[in-house]
Amino acid sequence: MPPAILIDELTKDYAIGFWRQRPYRALDRLSLDIESGEVFGFLGPNGAGKTTTLKLLMQLIFPTAGRAEILGRPVGDVAMRRRIGYLPENPSFYDYLTAEELMDYFGRLFGYAGADRRRRVAALLDRVGIDGASRRMQLRKFSKGMIQRVGIAQALLNDPEVVFLDEPMSGLDPIGRREVRSLILDLRDQGRTIVFSSHILADAEALCSRVAVIAGGQLAAEGRLTDILAFQIRGWELVVAELQPSALERIAPMIERSTEIAPHRYALEITLDHPPERIVTELAAAGATIVSLNPVRDTLEDFFVQQVAAVGQGARTTGAGDERRRARD
Ligand SMILES: Nc1ncnc2c1ncn2[C@@H]1O[C@H](COP(=O)(O)OP(=O)(O)OP(=O)(O)O)[C@@H](O)[C@H]1O
Ligand SMILES: [Mg+2]
Repeated sequence: MPPAILIDELTKDYAIGFWRQRPYRALDRLSLDIESGEVFGFLGPNGAGKTTTLKLLMQLIFPTAGRAEILGRPVGDVAMRRRIGYLPENPSFYDYLTAEELMDYFGRLFGYAGADRRRRVAALLDRVGIDGASRRMQLRKFSKGMIQRVGIAQALLNDPEVVFLDEPMSGLDPIGRREVRSLILDLRDQGRTIVFSSHILADAEALCSRVAVIAGGQLAAEGRLTDILAFQIRGWELVVAELQPSALERIAPMIERSTEIAPHRYALEITLDHPPERIVTELAAAGATIVSLNPVRDTLEDFFVQQVAAVGQGARTTGAGDERRRARD
């Protein structure tokens, strides 16, 4: 089975400047495979190239180089496009339609007949929490979070096999975020593929089977979240009580840092050079009580910051990526 989404060396240069136009590389040879049934997080800071990638997949813009396939078909394939859904970054709809009218309009575009269309619209507006009264309100009176909910509902109207959501949590309050998270997991349980972009790492941690981190238009990392984090274990933190000064002195050469939390109670930082088992055994033999032993790993947040720093956030013109890559190698 082909991957649900195949991205091969996708590159996008925008022309910037007014009098003297020059190319600006927003996306630099991005390659990715996204399997069917995955919840895939597309992570990166502002300006990383997330929206550019999704717009290229939707053919709202066209690539400078490279190609992409969705459901085994080139991105331009019309029959394939009936099987996908898309929430744009800042959805903007006809202001004077109500939520119900807008959804009905999209339902007509997809060719759904009367009763089926009304049933679909009602079920989806229910699902995204747009209730009776607000369904009949003009969209110009909607808050940002309510518009976002309608945007998500329209992305699901055609029962898509693959759903692309550009910042789905944007503008939502904590309850809204939780609802959208649960909606995404429901979609996954129904066997759909979900690709969403975000710079909110907690959302990715709560939802994704796999992520790609992009920064400066380039792929900085890709993989299962657990694998990426496991790779990042930096050492151990050991909390001990009843620790006598003589025992602390004995293990001092194996300890990176010790912090006294309370009398005879310490937090000890151990680097990866020293197996924590040995230190624990020594301390236990000296009569100390082991309170906890935890791996110290980078959070996704730390990882993110490191990747962004590594790739750099300077002005990008075509070829800047090559220079950066050469500098890194
Ligand atoms: N039409 C355009 N013309 C010129 N540059 C553009 C255009 N659209 C986007 N860019 C630039 O391309 C880069 C990538 O933008 P993109 O919108 O893909 O970022 P993003 O990762 O979605 O960021 P955010 O998290 O802020 O939504 C940015 O530096 C942006 O300024
Ligand atoms: Mg964006």
